Amino acid sequence: ECSPYAAHLYDAEDPFTPLRTVPGLCQDYCLDMWHKCRGLFRHLSTDQELQALEGNRARFCRYLSLDDTDYCFPYLLVNKNLNSNLGHVVADAKGCLQLCLEEVANGLRNPVAMVHARDGTHRFFVAEQVGLVWAYLPDRSRLEKPFLNISRAVLTSPWQGDERGFLGIAFHPSFRRNRRLYVYYSVGIRTSEWIRISEFRVSEDDENAVDHSSERILLEVKEPASNHNGGQLLFGDDGYLYIFTGDGGMAGDPFGTFGNAQNDVLPIFAYPHTIGKSVTGGYVYRGCEYPNLNGLYIFGDFMTGRLMSLQENPGTGQWHYSEICMGRGQTCEFPGLINNYYPYIISFGEDEAGELYFMSTGEPSATAPRGVVYKIIDPSSCKARSAMPGRVPAPSVCSLLNSQPLILQWWK
Ligand SMILES: *[C@@H]1O[C@H](CO)[C@@H](O)[C@H](O)[C@H]1NC(C)=O
Repeated sequence: ECSPYAAHLYDAEDPFTPLRTVPGLCQDYCLDMWHKCRGLFRHLSTDQELQALEGNRARFCRYLSLDDTDYCFPYLLVNKNLNSNLGHVVADAKGCLQLCLEEVANGLRNPVAMVHARDGTHRFFVAEQVGLVWAYLPDRSRLEKPFLNISRAVLTSPWQGDERGFLGIAFHPSFRRNRRLYVYYSVGIRTSEWIRISEFRVSEDDENAVDHSSERILLEVKEPASNHNGGQLLFGDDGYLYIFTGDGGMAGDPFGTFGNAQNDVLPIFAYPHTIGKSVTGGYVYRGCEYPNLNGLYIFGDFMTGRLMSLQENPGTGQWHYSEICMGRGQTCEFPGLINNYYPYIISFGEDEAGELYFMSTGEPSATAPRGVVYKIIDPSSCKARSAMPGRVPAPSVCSLLNSQPLILQWWK
């Protein structure tokens, strides 16, 4: 699903060869695999012809071979020639990395979070500030009924820049087993403003809907001001739930000895207000569609709409900054790719395969349906793929990858 060479592995670029359900295997790997676990193939593929050959090792592996042995699995993963062809993320003269985007969902009202359930379904969930969470299927279609609707309890307003509302969501690491998830939202209790962290369970008879009667309040904290309400919820690798409450807010950050939130560890990077005024934290890219982005921390600024990146030099521990620009000229001229986005960057997210997304809007109001989810694309991998020597130029290779999830998902 995510190899830059998926189209080659599945021999999908030549319209005259039959559609493969199992990628092309290198012969010694196949012979060994046949020996150790040939029964596995019955579960990977319904191909009758392949199953009929199961008793004959040589014919079985000939059937699974590729004419172009450069692209057989698993050696293509470590093939230096192929991987050097991937080149580098293209930077312009000022060192700005040129990336492209794909629009994944739109019409959202201040989308504040995108998460997945880590349950193998490859669904993703997008939360709106008003208190709705929508479920999207792997083909990116949105289910009609909201996954969760607590808009009645959530405290927010249509006022642009209102920082209160539904602010965070996280699925339990063992969600598949216990169906639990956690949400974070602003709530009015009597005359004061609070944040609340609650646990919900998915309903017994519909995996795409929360059981609204299952709410268990875990924590409520009174807020001294209506801004800086935090909102990130996440499970650490240690299995604990982490709750980021914000620093209290109020104009001028008046709380604490040094002003709000000034007694933390030193930052790895800081930028002046000429660059931006409000960091929207992102993720280190750990997906596999774009090997060149590996290890890059990608984040943004809410006020200026700037996308930025940091990469650690493991030798020195220093972080190297590069701005991210949208690819110009022909850089993003692949089907489905775009090179522009709405400027108010609200949040970042990952899908279940580790690919990176961000959410932004053209109007930062909790009731304006101008929010979009974008997928971050490194066009240098697409170009390298279509420019392979001896290959028919295939400008749609990147979109082909995206259009084949059901067949290829087995292979994960
Ligand atoms: C969400 O719930 C509110 C009332 O609690 C209701 O008015 C609204 O229509 C619901 N939204 C959706 C999309 O179902």
